[in-house]
Amino acid sequence: MTTLSNFRCISCSKEYKIHEIRYLCDCGDLLEVIHDLQSSISNPDLWKKSLDNKMQQTAFLRYQNILFPSLPLDSIISLHEGDTPLYDVSDQFPEFGSFKLKHEGINPTLSFKDRGMVAGVSWAHHLDCQHVICASTGDTSAAMAAYAGYAKNMQGIVLLPNGKISPEQLSQAISYGSLTIGIETDFDGCMRLVQELTRKHNIYLLNSMNSVRIEGQKAIGIELLHQLNWKVPDWIIIPVGNAGNISALGKGLRELFKLGIIDKLPRLAGIQTEAASPLYESFKNSYANLIPQKAKSTKASAIQIGNPVSFNKAIKELKKFNGVVEIVSEIELMDWKAKIDRLGISICPNSSVAVSGSMKLRDNDIIKSHENIVVILTAHGSKFSNIATEYHNNPSNQHANMPSIIKPDIIDLESILEL
Ligand code: F0G
Repeated sequence: MTTLSNFRCISCSKEYKIHEIRYLCDCGDLLEVIHDLQSSISNPDLWKKSLDNKMQQTAFLRYQNILFPSLPLDSIISLHEGDTPLYDVSDQFPEFGSFKLKHEGINPTLSFKDRGMVAGVSWAHHLDCQHVICASTGDTSAAMAAYAGYAKNMQGIVLLPNGKISPEQLSQAISYGSLTIGIETDFDGCMRLVQELTRKHNIYLLNSMNSVRIEGQKAIGIELLHQLNWKVPDWIIIPVGNAGNISALGKGLRELFKLGIIDKLPRLAGIQTEAASPLYESFKNSYANLIPQKAKSTKASAIQIGNPVSFNKAIKELKKFNGVVEIVSEIELMDWKAKIDRLGISICPNSSVAVSGSMKLRDNDIIKSHENIVVILTAHGSKFSNIATEYHNNPSNQHANMPSIIKPDIIDLESILEL
């Protein structure tokens, strides 16, 4: 079978055939998928122009020549992910040249994970895998369960850190029909177990250590640049957990640059919380080797990860993009969530980690006042409704908007409304 893609080790460059089911190199490091983009996009200018006639297609199909050209069209399992809004909120944030929010929560399962799953589950379908599995902090599992459900002949299995994901996320995995197993450990414990299981059994792993999924996630950065008419912002800011998404963003942008479709690279900023900051610790120490942490509890539960699987990829990308890593506190992330929600843009606590990180980088003058910023919002606030109501029910919180409860009495109503 002819193919335009191969796996290649990010450390020793050994290559493997794309149809092999494999997640790591024999040397133990991560693989990335490389494509013959010169063949799939022989004329970058023409390709760029042709996109305007493809706006009716799903984002994955529109950008498929750069995302994953080896995937046959008849294998694609799509729930119409992508085409997410890019909100310009610059008027609210005059301290920046411009400030835009790319809202990946406006996807079928309300997070950016759908972007990777269209590639991952379609590839699983193409390889005829009937069982797919992931460990998850709640969003990967929701997306995998939905796409496996849509594929019809595929059973999803999800391993979740018991009691550590939101009720909405849990309800997604269950409703979409995945076999759902709560494990009395944290995400890193689930991740260890899923790796051990897939080494022993023929079940297809759909965590982001499966580099096929990363190819789908490249669409976020590519679609963003298309929306910006290929004008590169100064910074793209993103929350980091297992470090797959920042790796995907970097890879996609590098490929656009290599094809000459964009004329420079932005800087990248990865933001974590004080509770789970392994990438930040490495960055602070001149990109020292990963020291796994026992991640502490945080409202940003989707990034409560102490041993990020894609650490080596993320570091490589951060170095190439003159990147920085910052951390934020619980109160910072919750106050910024309330402020962005208040604009009518519902964001999850993990996304607000990236928003508050941008503010911190601006305060410290790492981001300059004339610079153009895009923050990637990774999931919708509705996935974490308890967190919002808890915040607003506590009057000591800076932006609390406590609901009132009254008797069905017009006088009481007028009094509350001060009429
Ligand atoms: N934001 C949200 C909403 C997430 O769900 C995740 C990761 C991230 C950010 C971080 O992305 O891991 O690629 O660095 N969620 C995974 C999951 C771990 O299982 O749902 P990353």
